[in-house]
Amino acid sequence: MTGAHDGHTPSRREAWKRTATQYATLPLRLFLGVTFVYAAFDKLSDSHYLAGAGDAASFVSQTQAAKDGSPIGWALGPALHAPTFFALLIAFGELAVGLGTLFGLWGRLAAAGGAAINLTLFLTVSWNVSPYYLGNDLAYLMAWTPLVLAGTPYLSIDGYLARRAERDRLRGLSEGAVRRRSLLDGGIAAVALGGAGLLSGSLTATFGRDRKTVATPAASGAAGTQGDPAPGSTNPAPATGDKVTVAAASVPVGGSAQVKDPATGDAIYIVQPSAGQYCGFSAICTHSGCTVDAPRDGKMYCPCHGSRFDAKTGAVVNGPATKPLPKYTVTRNGGDLELGGRQS
Ligand code: FES
Repeated sequence: MTGAHDGHTPSRREAWKRTATQYATLPLRLFLGVTFVYAAFDKLSDSHYLAGAGDAASFVSQTQAAKDGSPIGWALGPALHAPTFFALLIAFGELAVGLGTLFGLWGRLAAAGGAAINLTLFLTVSWNVSPYYLGNDLAYLMAWTPLVLAGTPYLSIDGYLARRAERDRLRGLSEGAVRRRSLLDGGIAAVALGGAGLLSGSLTATFGRDRKTVATPAASGAAGTQGDPAPGSTNPAPATGDKVTVAAASVPVGGSAQVKDPATGDAIYIVQPSAGQYCGFSAICTHSGCTVDAPRDGKMYCPCHGSRFDAKTGAVVNGPATKPLPKYTVTRNGGDLELGGRQS
């Protein structure tokens, strides 16, 4: 038996390899598409995202925090002047990229859009993450590259349009007519997909935002919820009225106990950096409000974008955070440690 072109009939193993090569980018495409759709709805349903400058997790606060240490900080001025517009632009941009990637519609364009978003985030939010591989935006930027190069030719609207264009050419249609038909039908599909995305995103932003008040970065952290003790800390939580105390024995040198600020409910780590010296640090990252991990090896690590803080002073060891963790006084009364006021 002979093959159509070279007289060789591929074995099953060769055929499998060929198919695997053909669909090699499919898992990446599904992952990036789902992640961008998820990220868009996550933003649109987050009551903090569109809040004002007083909320550390808001778009405007994050942009302001990123501006100073970013090599493209000069370009962030418009986003700070019209934060709601740009916040929505990013969320709906992510939705468009995610849907285009998932459905394989104008796949190269969608991938280029995704790469542009992650390049911007890398140069702003992740720029000061050290070492660089702890910031995830660079990894996403690299992940988009194969899709920018290869597009989405299989199991996609692009693939369907390409096959139909081939049939049109065989039918004798001119190249101009084939292109116009593909462009028109691609445009119709884009309007349909974009309309569905716009409608669902708008409904989420309008009616879905209140549901998210607990599951925001400010209220989540290494231990899952703000009320849970993070790994490496204890949570005796013996608050009496407005007084917050913990047993001194629960805070060894270099260790910590987690309590809550009675005024705000925010998590605080009571620490003993050196023997007999106690103080407290807010556990809320000054970058965009995630809960930092309990002190370990003299540092407090933020799992969201990799900021690290000195566990003795609360100072930033490495960004993207630029401000230290707020500090609290702690006094020892016999066997108890009492949380005092916020110093900074
Ligand atoms: Fe971004 Fe902590 S919230 S580094």
